[in-house]
Amino acid sequence: MARKRDFKKAEDEGSAKRSCTNSPKPERNVLNDGLLNLYKKELDLKKEKSSSSQDESFTENKSKENDTDTSKTPSKSGKRSKIAALTPKYSTVNFDNIGGMDKVLNKILRMFMHYKVLRLYKETDISPVSGILLHGPPGCGKTYLAHAIAGEIGVPIIQVSATELVRGISGESESMIRDVFAAALATGRCILFIDEIDAICRKRETNENAMMGRMVTQMIKSFDELSQKDPDGNIVVIGATNMLDSLDNALRRGSRFTHEIAIGMPDEEGRLEILKVICKNNLSPDFDFRWLAHHTPGYVGADLKTLSSLAKMKALNRVVVSLPPDQTGDNVVDFERYLDAQPISEVRKWFQNLECPDKKVTVTLEDFKVALQEYVPTSKREGFATVPDTTWDEIGSYEDIKKHIQKTIM
Ligand SMILES: Nc1ncnc2c1ncn2[C@@H]1O[C@H](COP(=O)(O)OP(=O)(O)O)[C@@H](O)[C@H]1O
Ligand SMILES: [Mg+2]
Repeated sequence: MARKRDFKKAEDEGSAKRSCTNSPKPERNVLNDGLLNLYKKELDLKKEKSSSSQDESFTENKSKENDTDTSKTPSKSGKRSKIAALTPKYSTVNFDNIGGMDKVLNKILRMFMHYKVLRLYKETDISPVSGILLHGPPGCGKTYLAHAIAGEIGVPIIQVSATELVRGISGESESMIRDVFAAALATGRCILFIDEIDAICRKRETNENAMMGRMVTQMIKSFDELSQKDPDGNIVVIGATNMLDSLDNALRRGSRFTHEIAIGMPDEEGRLEILKVICKNNLSPDFDFRWLAHHTPGYVGADLKTLSSLAKMKALNRVVVSLPPDQTGDNVVDFERYLDAQPISEVRKWFQNLECPDKKVTVTLEDFKVALQEYVPTSKREGFATVPDTTWDEIGSYEDIKKHIQKTIM
């Protein structure tokens, strides 16, 4: 699985050729006018904005792409709705928006070196990366990271959630998978992101659903075809899953998902970095990030994001609610308590007359401390959900064991 990779200093040759030049024509006949026009508009916008840091060869490739694409616009009307979601998009986030994953980001960037030094890859007979599998618990940032990779590298991303590919009619789901890969080939250099891939690629030996089995087979076939049609690795497939072990092993072999990256729960340092990325604006000048990172064990990136939204809302309440003179307003909770206690008739009046005050919101650590008391992180919530309601009375016999357990717990 580990490929020979030469991590010499990246050297921008600016001559990465389109993968599909020496290969059979990509299956563009599935793209319709709407998709192409949308994509072209987006591409034009991007080109206008394109900064000097963008890879020259990519822009060049894209314009060639446009020239050729317009001529091949099939009009299979039935496909129109199916592929609407396959429009390539440019991501608005990049590695600046990701905290606490520097080592992962480092590895990932080097996986895309073939975009820059393809000639050296060819001369050295190194196969470019074909697929990267991001795995880890929910909320750790897998989906977000896939978008950040596209944004950082400056290529469009086609995102599909695996469940969107499942269709009720026989053969349709496999056809959806073919469409997805064909759309990526028609796009040229891009990231094809398949989120929650475990939903359609479970191990075939334990999967009794025949259609699901066929989807896995199709996915493998499409992957293999992609490496033939795109030997230069212009299209990189990124998959994300919370359940790595449930994936069919064939996908984790050969020229499919050649790299697997674990995105784990962040430790205190990781949380510190994530918080610094998430909470940039309107913090009180002495804001103690370290305290917050220390007091949020078990929180993943998504939890920290929700926590910070809660805290920010508390700070915002302070600005929009003017407490009557007889109420104290020192404590963060006072404002919420005051609002909660108001009869709806009063709140309606207040809402109708509410205008944006000419004041600034300042978020303090105190806001976060109150939010922390209210918010239960995802990992702990799952624990609560499994508290059983079975009592001792419902368990027959085993009296000795029951007594022993009771004593042990007491
Ligand atoms: N490392 C991180 N850095 C910054 N934000 C993060 C990070 N991890 C998660 N987030 C935030 O949490 C949100 C949810 O993460 P998501 O990518 O959906 O998680 P997953 O796909 O692993 O379930 C993201 O949109 C982002 O705002
Ligand atoms: Mg996700």
